[in-house]
Amino acid sequence: MYIIVCLTIVTLLSYFLSDYIKKYSINTYIVVSTLSLMAIIHAILILNGNSIEYVVGLKQLMRAIDSGAMGGAVFILVMYMGVFDMKKAYQRKLRVIRAELSIIGCIITFPHNVHYLFSFIMNSGSIVKARDFTVWTNLMMFAAAIIAIIIMIPLFITSFRYFRKKISAKAWKNLQEYAYIFYAMIFIQVMMVYLGRPSSLVRNLNLLFYFLIFTSYTVLKIKMVCEKRRLKIEKLAANKY
Ligand code: HEM
Repeated sequence: MYIIVCLTIVTLLSYFLSDYIKKYSINTYIVVSTLSLMAIIHAILILNGNSIEYVVGLKQLMRAIDSGAMGGAVFILVMYMGVFDMKKAYQRKLRVIRAELSIIGCIITFPHNVHYLFSFIMNSGSIVKARDFTVWTNLMMFAAAIIAIIIMIPLFITSFRYFRKKISAKAWKNLQEYAYIFYAMIFIQVMMVYLGRPSSLVRNLNLLFYFLIFTSYTVLKIKMVCEKRRLKIEKLAANKY
């Protein structure tokens, strides 16, 4: 259950370091990129059968980044910011660093993408040969992951203020709509990973956790859109009379 630990740590760090992240975003990206690079080196060494000695906690941190749990936790927080109530001070404090967290999420997911993309391609022969349910879960996981990466790249680039200024506000807003497909792809990818594994307490808890996180977000988002629409109609009606 790396995801629960990661989500707790990511939320607490984002909250308490919100001002720092906003003011010194470049420094933050450098620290996260260093961790990302370390996780790539870690993955390469592990894939080559090396055993590595770590100081306490570093092994777990590398595993959390490599498994996708750290990136997933950052994206879950970014996703939930879309339904935050800006009247609440603690939610506003987190919301102001949404663009920075999106960039951090992309950087920290990079080692996971590189590692699992390569190992999927290298093992594709045995994946397709398996004549059972796992062929379909693996193929769907792969397709969802590829679509997620394709959507993530332009969203990542346009999260930087420099590139954001180069496109019109309308084009930027339209591009942001693709974030919903991105979240849906993460959901499908993770569900396929866990559905393809033999049933166990940890697998079922992971499935339940991701299911609850993504469905509760969907319900909150739909409620928010309906509420906005209702207010708009009421405003139009008030202006008419
Ligand atoms: C934007 C791209 C991606 C995101 C956001 C993402 C996100 C995630 C998340 C949140 C998890 C669950 C981690 C956990 O609960 O411990 C995960 C696991 C996994 N993902 Fe991805 N993923 C991405 C790309 C990929 C790609 C390209 C592949 C390979 C084709 C892949 C294969 C896997 C596998 C095999 C696992 C299980 C890992 C393990 O337990 O060691 N993912 N991913």
